[in-house]
Amino acid sequence: MAKASLSYVCSSCGAATSKWSGRCEACGAWNTITEDAGISAGPPKKTLGKSRGRTVPLTDLSDEEAPPPRTSCGMNELDRVLGGGLVPSSAILVGGDPGIGKSTLLLQAAAQFARAGLKVIYASGEEASAQVRMRAQRLGLADASVKLAAETNLRDILTTLEAEAPQLVIIDSIQTMWADHVDSAPGSVSQVRAAAHELTSFAKRRNTSVIMVGHVTKDGQIAGPRVVEHMVDTVLYFEGERGHQFRILRAVKNRFGPADEIGVFEMTGAGLAEVSNPSALFLSERGQPTPGSAVFAGIEGTRPVLCEFQALVAPSPHSQPRRTVVGWDGGRLAMILAVLEARCGIPFAGLDVYLNVAGGMRISEPAADLAVAAALLSAREDTALPAECVVFGEISLSGALRPVGQTENRLKEAQKLGFTSAIVPEGGKSGGTSDMALTRMSDLAAFVGEIFGA
Ligand code: TYD
Ligand code: MG
Repeated sequence: MAKASLSYVCSSCGAATSKWSGRCEACGAWNTITEDAGISAGPPKKTLGKSRGRTVPLTDLSDEEAPPPRTSCGMNELDRVLGGGLVPSSAILVGGDPGIGKSTLLLQAAAQFARAGLKVIYASGEEASAQVRMRAQRLGLADASVKLAAETNLRDILTTLEAEAPQLVIIDSIQTMWADHVDSAPGSVSQVRAAAHELTSFAKRRNTSVIMVGHVTKDGQIAGPRVVEHMVDTVLYFEGERGHQFRILRAVKNRFGPADEIGVFEMTGAGLAEVSNPSALFLSERGQPTPGSAVFAGIEGTRPVLCEFQALVAPSPHSQPRRTVVGWDGGRLAMILAVLEARCGIPFAGLDVYLNVAGGMRISEPAADLAVAAALLSAREDTALPAECVVFGEISLSGALRPVGQTENRLKEAQKLGFTSAIVPEGGKSGGTSDMALTRMSDLAAFVGEIFGA
């Protein structure tokens, strides 16, 4: 009899190899190759399958075959991130650091979806049912009609689900699930992949939505192979700084709605509270205008969000000055420093630079370039920017300012929060309907001259 040969799999990208090595050849990650206890599939089949798959012309699909409509849970921040409510038969992965509040969020969501009329099962492999109940009591949800299951065996869970036929299942967490046909420990790459696959196919087959919780590794990826992210319809990250009470639910992939959408919550003594006006929250700690502070009018998903960039520039005691960034991309900061030096003649050599986005927010929009430059210049020149002024615009390597999308929405949000002026790139769509005083700039050097008189 042929001996079953071992195979290996990369826990980062999911690539399979026949021998172990220190570095994955597919994605280049180190120390990610682990033994793969593959599912026993038998010898490869050379013949075609016996049954013939069915195909349907797209035009023949009638409205009756269309899936039932989405369900809103009433937590607007969650509904919006999902793309306007929960899609039936969808598979959703919610990732986040341990202790960030995933179980709290999903227990609240479970109760809300049950209230909205769905049959909901909350399967916890991390806590006993009594513990989940205690948490529910603390959250004031003890009377919610959610069924609990404290299970880790995937087969048992699937049997329960077949019998109960719920419309929504929450699996907390995918790393605690254990499939007995896979010969490796719970939490291993093969187990996570097998459990996610079984649950996703159950979702599609039985018209049940499945929300899976996934822990995140130190380097910020969902523990388990990337293939899990490809398998599901929607990937959400629940993030935030431990010291801050704000939590952000971010859609990084969504087959049924816009990616990049965020929902903002606040962790309170009685669970997560929705924050319907995040701009006010992110700017709440701002006092008098200080050097190094610039307010950016950004867009997160479909919604404008204002937040504050804070910079500190100080002479460096080190031969290699420090560049520390929280909430923004380090490479992009280096680029803006280089443009300031090359195009405006403002050097940062010999200076330590610290950049922070207030409130634990993370910004990835290039439209924030000008706000970053403004904060850096304001810190370096020790001059505060005009009060009640917002800034946005993309900076190109030539030092030119490029217009960005949704100027109108950004200005409206700023006006709503009491801002009266804005510095924006030239050439964008006019902010005709808002009463903001606009200063339009064509390049970074003009901006430096206008604001700092250099
Ligand atoms: P939890 O949902 O258990 O996190 P995760 O499932 O992501 O590991 O949240 C744990 C943290 O949330 C814990 O530090 C306590 C805090 N918390 C509150 O502040 N208020 C609450 O009402 C609850 C239930 C938790
Ligand atoms: Mg948990």
